Amino acid sequence: MLEIENVTARYGSLTALQDISFAAEPGARIGVFGHNGAGKTTLLRSIVGAHAPASGAVRLDGRAVVAGRVPENVRRGIAFVPQGHNVFPNLSVAQNMRIAGLLFDMRFAEDVMTIFPVLKERRTQRAGSMSGGEQQMLALGMALMTKPKWLLLDEPSTGLAPVIVRNVMRQLGEVNKMLGTGLIIVEQNVPATLKLVDRAIILKSSRVVLDGPAAQLSDNPDLWKWF
Ligand SMILES: Nc1ncnc2c1ncn2[C@@H]1O[C@H](COP(=O)(O)OP(=O)(O)OP(=O)(O)O)[C@@H](O)[C@H]1O
Ligand SMILES: [Mg+2]
Repeated sequence: MLEIENVTARYGSLTALQDISFAAEPGARIGVFGHNGAGKTTLLRSIVGAHAPASGAVRLDGRAVVAGRVPENVRRGIAFVPQGHNVFPNLSVAQNMRIAGLLFDMRFAEDVMTIFPVLKERRTQRAGSMSGGEQQMLALGMALMTKPKWLLLDEPSTGLAPVIVRNVMRQLGEVNKMLGTGLIIVEQNVPATLKLVDRAIILKSSRVVLDGPAAQLSDNPDLWKWF
């Protein structure tokens, strides 16, 4: 269980998150939406411990996630894929996977490559020469090498063509089903994300303005009024 309890986050005098609380059961699939500057990235950074909340707490399976101790939090099962292509461009796909699994079980790379067959096909290709979608798959594959309980993704569809976005979302669904990994996905592409997630959280100006079943949003033509 992942618990975010009354988290308030600041950058100097600017409040980026205000009294955010929600809990997520293992394996949950959550989409986080909201305008630019609403606090979405800050929320993910607070969950993995990369940003210290001014007040409140994040707990994983009952134990506090300590801010500033990102490697420890990753080992405990929280993986964070920041926005952009987080791969080592001059290394091959296989080398990237090995580095990602260094502190874990490198043999797991074969299982991850079964979920993302493109990584198996491109095993020896230099990561920087792969397409944007392929690099995104590699970044996801690398995050999975830490065997996370939770995968936090910051706008994984950025810069990808619609058909590739659908593919990424489908693969994330596979990861969730096959490995039981919980997903917290920050996205601008709301319709594509609603096909994957079962719960939606909308942030507006640092506060949660909606937290409910994703289906409720898909049938609600007024979705945009929250934004
Ligand atoms: N390192 C920082 N220093 C100062 N202010 C920051 C910093 N990071 C974010 N902020 C501010 O905090 C607020 C929330 O930012 P955050 O990046 O969490 O928003 P976001 O919802 O992810 O936006 P976007 O959709 O543009 O990625 C914004 O007003 C932003 O300017
Ligand atoms: Mg952001």
